[in-house]
Amino acid sequence: MVPYGGVKIAQNVNMKPEDIDWNGMWNEALKKAPKKDNKQRWDKIAHKFNEWMKTDDYPQNLAEKIHKEPNYTVLDLGCGNGSVTLRVAENVKHVTAVDMSGEMLELVKKNAKERGIENLSYVQSSVEDLDPEAVGQHDVVIASRSLGGIYNLKEELKKVDNLASKYVYMTIWGANAREFEKELCSVMGTQYHQHPDYIYVCNMLYQLGIYANVEILDCESRPMYCDLEDVMDRCSWKLGWNTKKIEDEEKKKLENFLKTNAVKKEDGTLDYPTNNPDWVLLWWKK
Ligand SMILES: C[S@@+](CC[C@H](N)C(=O)[O-])C[C@H]1O[C@@H](n2cnc3c(N)ncnc32)[C@H](O)[C@@H]1O
Repeated sequence: MVPYGGVKIAQNVNMKPEDIDWNGMWNEALKKAPKKDNKQRWDKIAHKFNEWMKTDDYPQNLAEKIHKEPNYTVLDLGCGNGSVTLRVAENVKHVTAVDMSGEMLELVKKNAKERGIENLSYVQSSVEDLDPEAVGQHDVVIASRSLGGIYNLKEELKKVDNLASKYVYMTIWGANAREFEKELCSVMGTQYHQHPDYIYVCNMLYQLGIYANVEILDCESRPMYCDLEDVMDRCSWKLGWNTKKIEDEEKKKLENFLKTNAVKKEDGTLDYPTNNPDWVLLWWKK
């Protein structure tokens, strides 16, 4: 018997990779994960996210990995504020930016205007509700940090693959840098549930006959916080605590922990050395 996620399962050495229900395991793990991806949640945080991305090296890092040609059309699923989208748009013919959050799409429009980028169109939709016939096939499909909250992901992966004619790039949580979240949960006395990560997605893709390249992105920017209120706010959001009432006593514990462990930078911002970025890029050529 092998423990898996707190449950004992019988190990059958005759099992094959295709016999494992990765999609079911993903769904179960997602149910336990603290934060839920929904439109309201992203609408609410959109403007802050736009600020955070200004000092984050992830968008540049990912944009450099994407194959771009001047005649390419690109579909960016869950484009957020456009930090990756606009970098790609500068080097291709056209980008269709899709996001379920209207606030995020407004930010892409604003950011594109500021940078004089005009080769974009916009679709407000979740990945799940997206009509492949209406949106059509694109040379490149990107889904950057946007698939992590989707139930029955295997179906959507099939859809994402079908939407691309040349390349697909997606990033999913890695498994490494969860120390900070674990620490926060232990301080708050809440159980830590790891968000399902790239290994589930790799295996679902494999089961679909898609043998993706796997690369851990080498991002360095950790979130920097302007003050204690900012870090309290953002951590509560990240771990889904802003949707439940935090008792004063718990709040004090969290505040103490965040005060004690903060490293103050020269510019006054707060840094937490265990709060590392961890994204895995899965990409394939068709
Ligand atoms: C972490 S942000 C990533 C934004 C951008 N792709 C990037 O990497 O900078 C996640 C974005 O995906 C969007 N999103 C999350 N789940 C989605 C879904 N199922 N369908 C469409 N958009 C989704 C959110 O609204 C948000 O704008």
